[in-house]
Amino acid sequence: MAHLLPLLTALLLCSYGPVGSLGCQLPENSVQLSKMTWQLLGQMRTISPALCLRDRRDFRFPREVLNASHFQNTQDMSVLHEILQQIYNLFHTQQASAAWNKTVLAQLRTTLRKQLPDLNTCSVVQGRARQDSVLTTESPTLALKRYFHGIHVYLEEKKHSDCAWELVRMQLQRALASTIQLQESLRSKDADSGSS
Ligand SMILES: *[C@@H]1O[C@H](CO)[C@@H](O)[C@H](O)[C@H]1NC(C)=O
Ligand SMILES: *[C@@H]1O[C@H](CO)[C@@H](O)[C@H](O)[C@H]1NC(C)=O
Repeated sequence: MAHLLPLLTALLLCSYGPVGSLGCQLPENSVQLSKMTWQLLGQMRTISPALCLRDRRDFRFPREVLNASHFQNTQDMSVLHEILQQIYNLFHTQQASAAWNKTVLAQLRTTLRKQLPDLNTCSVVQGRARQDSVLTTESPTLALKRYFHGIHVYLEEKKHSDCAWELVRMQLQRALASTIQLQESLRSKDADSGSS
């Protein structure tokens, strides 16, 4: 019964009117910034993953949260926000500073921060719009939190070894690539629907 209240609240808030009028959009340059983040993550590579086979782990990225057919347009971006925020958190730790090239790490944080404030406003607004997923499965944000929690636990377990960081870095690069695909596909949906 405890989960009924948020559901009702969500339904009430959903009756607020058209989501578009709340003005929640991806920042114009979000694809570009995401690509930059992706490149920086690539630059950070220092060891060959082939040396890290023993540390491999399936982190179970919740792929379905990035399935473009669950989105109507670029309005619903709490998923992207969660991913970027979590990547930022991971690389904003002492352990990350110890493990990675500080110059590139600083650039990575700067690029991520440029994207986060805009999306932050967005995810607040979008809390009102999340009607479908509340009704069907668990919240995509929650699935992502679980995924990143797994990564934190893994890094602890592996004592933040170079191999562990490298495998995580690769994972995150792949996840980010999926968000770029999603963003691009939503942009073309926007264009198709002729919305302003
Ligand atoms: C995306 O979701 C749709 C509808 O739920 C489903 O038919 C499709 O197989 C999914 N695509 C992927 C790549 O999971
Ligand atoms: C860190 O990365 C920068 C930019 O790629 C490079 O110029 C520098 O030599 C690197 N530093 C170390 C210690 O590898």
